Amino acid sequence: MKRLKQHVIWGQRGSFILAATGSAVGLGNIWKFPYITGENGGGAFVLMYLLCILLIGIPIMMAEILMGRRARANPIIATAELCEAAGASKLWTGIGWMGALAGLVILSFYTVIAGWTLEYIVAAVSGEFTGLTGEASKQLFDGLLADPGKMLQWHTLFTLMTVVILALGVTRGLESSVRVMMPLLFVLLLVLLGYAAVEGEFATSLRFMFSFNPQDISWESALVAMGHSFFTLSLGMGAIMAYGAYMPSNQSVSRTVLYVALLDTLVALVAGVAIFALVFATPGISPGSGPGLMFVTLPVAFGNMSAGLVFGAIFFVMVMLAAWTSTISLLEPGVAYLNERFGFNRVAASILLGVVAWAMGLGSVWSFNDWSAKQFLWGKSYFDTMDFIATNIMLPLGGVLIALFVGWKLRDHHILHELASESPRLVRWWRPVLKFISPVAVLVVLINGIFPVLRAVFVE
Ligand code: TRP
Repeated sequence: MKRLKQHVIWGQRGSFILAATGSAVGLGNIWKFPYITGENGGGAFVLMYLLCILLIGIPIMMAEILMGRRARANPIIATAELCEAAGASKLWTGIGWMGALAGLVILSFYTVIAGWTLEYIVAAVSGEFTGLTGEASKQLFDGLLADPGKMLQWHTLFTLMTVVILALGVTRGLESSVRVMMPLLFVLLLVLLGYAAVEGEFATSLRFMFSFNPQDISWESALVAMGHSFFTLSLGMGAIMAYGAYMPSNQSVSRTVLYVALLDTLVALVAGVAIFALVFATPGISPGSGPGLMFVTLPVAFGNMSAGLVFGAIFFVMVMLAAWTSTISLLEPGVAYLNERFGFNRVAASILLGVVAWAMGLGSVWSFNDWSAKQFLWGKSYFDTMDFIATNIMLPLGGVLIALFVGWKLRDHHILHELASESPRLVRWWRPVLKFISPVAVLVVLINGIFPVLRAVFVE
């Protein structure tokens, strides 16, 4: 595939790790991980999740980075060129196309949820959490969902924040922003951990997260753990591949991936421990409260603790940063493609794709109010439909294809050249896992993910 522009490479040490960790650490870590851990019994779930990171997340992340860095191009051009080099069918280029599209779809609804964090920063600062009861907190949240104007305003602002960073470019935008935002995120997280240790039920929380009860292991929770290990590392759509293209050649892929996976997991665990410590310290609310944990349960905890408003605001600023460094990586593959393939400048490319994602997100804004009765796929709301198509179908499908392509199609000398400085033991271990274990595991996630729909179509 023709390209007009050449790639830059991030000069400063650690930029790739920060950017990839920024992509990985997001709403999935702080919003989703704690509540799925709560719903699946704590310790046993955490253990299964760690195993999945090792057998699915790490091998596929190495594969994505390797593809991006080998081709030094955005995922669409990268897959096209690698196909050619490997003598593989052009159909594999679908990995890049589907990935860029998945990025747009995920961005369209991710900014809607991320926008709620902006509303909650304002709410915390203006004292709305003070003395909040469970009932009042639910009303506050339902009030936001019922207000399309407000939801639209935050969705628009978050999309704009994303576009600005991308428009500034790979070095001045992406690299500079993650170098400021990620350290700040880590500091805020530690501050919250300290607060939770002082104000919360720390020991109860630790026991809940880490005590191992084998009877809590079930097939269902294993599937949730598999799916999440994949989602939380931003795999399957080329975000990591796009960043891999900016990674210096002398940096070790495996060591970098271990850092990213470790940091991502640590953030999820620390956020979980802090959140549950605060929740357990508040009478009358429970840890297994599902998706409402962050926006309904937690404000009650903050509203009834000393200095809860300040720390509540800190909490939602941290979630905003986590989401922001993820949204930029959702749009980067598409922006880089328009830039490298057609010579669009980054400002034009970012605005164009930002507008597309913003418009696709309108239905997600309305799903919670004006369109709440509208059904799209088999009884699902627009929001759930978008989420389903991207997270349950496109991401796992992309993941299977990436694992198969790098595992089976890419020539040995391409791989060995990229991994020349890695430990040979690790490479020997990685290749068979990528060939046999990861694709099968992700395929199971994929089939399980579409199963409810298959049933809806064929049985009902
Ligand atoms: N990893 C992100 C999170 O945990 C979500 C996500 C999934 C993502 N796939 C992505 C982010 C691709 C950026 C790019 O919230």
